[in-house]
Amino acid sequence: MCAPSFYALPAALIQQQCRTSQYYVASDANAVVEHTRRVLLIEDNEVVHMRDDGAVHIFKFDSDQYSRRLLRPASVQRGLSTLEMEVEQIRKGNFEHFMQKEIHEQPDSLTMTIRDHLKTIRRSRRILFIGCGTSYNAALAARPVVEEHSGIPVTMEIASDLLDRQGPIYREDTAIFVSQSGETAYTLEALEYAKSNGALCVGITNTVGSAIARGTHCGIHLNAGCEIGVASTKAYTSQIAVIVMLALALGVDSLSTQQRRNAIMDVLYNLPSKVRDVLKLDRDMKELAALLMEEQSLLVFGRGYNYATALECALKVKQVSLMHAEGIVAGDMKHGPLALVDETLRIIVIAIRDASLNKQQSVRQQLKARKGRLIVMCTEGDAEFMCLIEHCLQPMINIVPLQLLAYQLTVFRGFNVDQPRNLAKSVTTQ
Ligand code: F6R
Repeated sequence: MCAPSFYALPAALIQQQCRTSQYYVASDANAVVEHTRRVLLIEDNEVVHMRDDGAVHIFKFDSDQYSRRLLRPASVQRGLSTLEMEVEQIRKGNFEHFMQKEIHEQPDSLTMTIRDHLKTIRRSRRILFIGCGTSYNAALAARPVVEEHSGIPVTMEIASDLLDRQGPIYREDTAIFVSQSGETAYTLEALEYAKSNGALCVGITNTVGSAIARGTHCGIHLNAGCEIGVASTKAYTSQIAVIVMLALALGVDSLSTQQRRNAIMDVLYNLPSKVRDVLKLDRDMKELAALLMEEQSLLVFGRGYNYATALECALKVKQVSLMHAEGIVAGDMKHGPLALVDETLRIIVIAIRDASLNKQQSVRQQLKARKGRLIVMCTEGDAEFMCLIEHCLQPMINIVPLQLLAYQLTVFRGFNVDQPRNLAKSVTTQ
């Protein structure tokens, strides 16, 4: 006799006995945990065929999105999962009622909410970061840390693009929604989409009670304080910090990375003073802005940890100073952008002392050879400064002078800094 299996189907609890196997069909795991922990999960639009001889087949019915006609069902291969519930969880124990028991369970359940979600994220087959604009860039900046410490593949999704292509999301995925306002229409719609596909949905927002904070299964509040300027700045660095901390929490069981985690934590702790240091570059950025204010266009080359810094710098410059700017991953230079370079083009190259430095030096030489007008962002005091800052945390430092540059450019060019034309702080329509 096969071990009994559980099938989750909406609103159905069917016990089936047959000659060789015993199955339970239920809409809720509580209903079967007394009998078995081995379950086969059924998703929307699927039909299960159970035969007398114990064979089980799953078929998925999809409809043609244009004609809405049902397509031929596809056979689905899926392994058994194991329920992590204990039978005690569905018994009243010493309590009169479940409600009474559950009220008393709250100290533990609150702890578990956080711990269990971390466990679920750790078990995910994939982490997806989903957001728009600056929030997307923040997730991109922190992506390498998440990959390193979680060991889970991470994919990046601009919310509108994910929706346009109806990209695949699975119940084994963790979808992390990054949004300062927590109200961005595309991000919110992507959240509904990911939820309907069964993914664990995590929110990272700066607004308690926002639609994304309410709609996600769990989340982290940035606590960055109210951000009023339409161009996101302080939320960006806080978003990166929060995602880095999430990455460290995901990797907490790994002994081999413990030392590195401790080092990152130490630097995180000192980060505010490092940011204070780079803020002193305000006057230098003002001078640089004066030099650049008449330009038509600005390219920003970054790579590795600072690819996102290049994108975010360009986004800030175009958003508030209304100057055309493009952030470019430097490794792609020869695949198109190099054609633009001549003696008139202004280019920022982020070549700070990290694992990408040698490659960025070579980019710099090649741009110089084409007579590009370079502004190189490099590390002050070389080794001394580098001892103080983990490379993966540099994006939070490096963006600050570039934000100042965008700000000063806007002032020089005479545009509205806090309310750039055509843009809104919360983009609640598509
Ligand atoms: C850029 C900027 C926008 C927002 C984007 C997403 O400075 O402010 O690109 O980042 O509209 O907004 P949130 O983060 O509220 O989802």
